[in-house]
Amino acid sequence: MLQVTLKLFVLVLFGFQSVLSTPLIKHDPPHKNSTDNTVSASPNATLALPPHWVIYSDRSVPGLTIPPPVSDVKGFNVFALSFLLVAGAFDNALAWTQLTPTQRATIKAEYAAAGIKLIVSLFGSTDAPTTNGADPIDTANTMADWAIQFDLDGVDVDYEDFDAINAGDGQAEAWLAAFTRQLRVKLPQGIFLLTHAPVAPWFSPGKFGGGAYLTVDSTVGSLIDWYNLQFYNQGATEYTTCEGLLTNSSSTWPQSALFQIAASGVPLEKLVIGKPGLPSDASNGFMNTTTLARCLEIAKRSGWNAGAMTWEFPDANATWIRSVRSLSFPV
Ligand SMILES: *[C@@H]1O[C@H](CO)[C@@H](O)[C@H](O)[C@H]1NC(C)=O
Ligand SMILES: *[C@@H]1O[C@H](CO)[C@@H](O)[C@H](O)[C@H]1NC(C)=O
Ligand SMILES: *[C@@H]1O[C@H](CO)[C@@H](O)[C@H](O)[C@H]1NC(C)=O
Ligand SMILES: *[C@@H]1O[C@H](CO)[C@@H](O)[C@H](O)[C@H]1NC(C)=O
Ligand SMILES: *[C@@H]1O[C@H](CO)[C@@H](O)[C@H](O)[C@H]1NC(C)=O
Repeated sequence: MLQVTLKLFVLVLFGFQSVLSTPLIKHDPPHKNSTDNTVSASPNATLALPPHWVIYSDRSVPGLTIPPPVSDVKGFNVFALSFLLVAGAFDNALAWTQLTPTQRATIKAEYAAAGIKLIVSLFGSTDAPTTNGADPIDTANTMADWAIQFDLDGVDVDYEDFDAINAGDGQAEAWLAAFTRQLRVKLPQGIFLLTHAPVAPWFSPGKFGGGAYLTVDSTVGSLIDWYNLQFYNQGATEYTTCEGLLTNSSSTWPQSALFQIAASGVPLEKLVIGKPGLPSDASNGFMNTTTLARCLEIAKRSGWNAGAMTWEFPDANATWIRSVRSLSFPV
């Protein structure tokens, strides 16, 4: 009796909560289970299917609203507002919050109609959450709540706490695992996107005491929809040819080319190739769209279909992605 009452009480609480504070399920109707009367989201199995064409947007663009008109980013299917930091929203993540709810709803509907998901990217290079002692659970709760409050389709974890990874003591990896698990409590798989954006060298075996992203992938990889791999900013000649990018990285960052990462056990369909839009968008690692298109063509012939990511709008745009996709997944 006590048990039954408690269960009813919990159901009532849950019912109220989902009315009051869960825009969480709006992508898909909730699913009522007639056997046990619980209400859950019905995951959308196609939400995270490749290929992914991801564009980041941190810079403000004079004369343009952010997000821009969908015609400017046609050919992409994910637009990542950047960044939400431990200290709050900045740059284009902040700009999104400064639109009126009506403006946001209108833009969201236009993006949805064009098949483009709107997500928020977390941290970026200015935040070092592990080094700074941010609690992974609290941080995940706050950030997930923010994404839900502002009606986004998910989050991208652009963790760039190099000091924590380089410490080699496993704390960065443990932080990322706890953070990712808690994000998924709030942002269920199949309903919200959850991606990570590691630099490619973090998949080099034996280079980091804690295992870097090879450890992250083996602990919480099943919760991560895909990786927006940063194949740039890693040295003047790193990942600048199709061979270096796809099959044979340099001895500085061994085994971190695309197919080498897959050979380490990370699912190939989760390996999205990230490149700067213009040379000025990174210190190094740039490839022009002609070369990048050719690399994608080669990769596709070997069974890859994950897609490409670029930093950042407006240097990359609809024209850029059209050219990059032209020999593999043309639009
Ligand atoms: C409904 O709930 C029952 C009992 O918890 C469970 O066994 C069953 O798999 C659920 N069905 C669906 C479709 O979720
Ligand atoms: C599921 O996701 C796909 C891809 O994002 C989308 O095209 C489709 O409309 C979604 N289905 C539902 C029922 O939300
Ligand atoms: C993309 O950017 C290039 C270079 O600035 C510009 O010429 C082109 O018109 C832009 N294309 C779109 C669709 O915005
Ligand atoms: C990989 O690249 C290095 C140069 O960085 C070269 O010496 C080596 O022969 C290449 N290996 C293969 C298998 O092509
Ligand atoms: C693109 O880059 C390749 C390799 O560096 C170069 O050979 C080619 O001329 C470039 N193409 C354009 C259009 O800039």
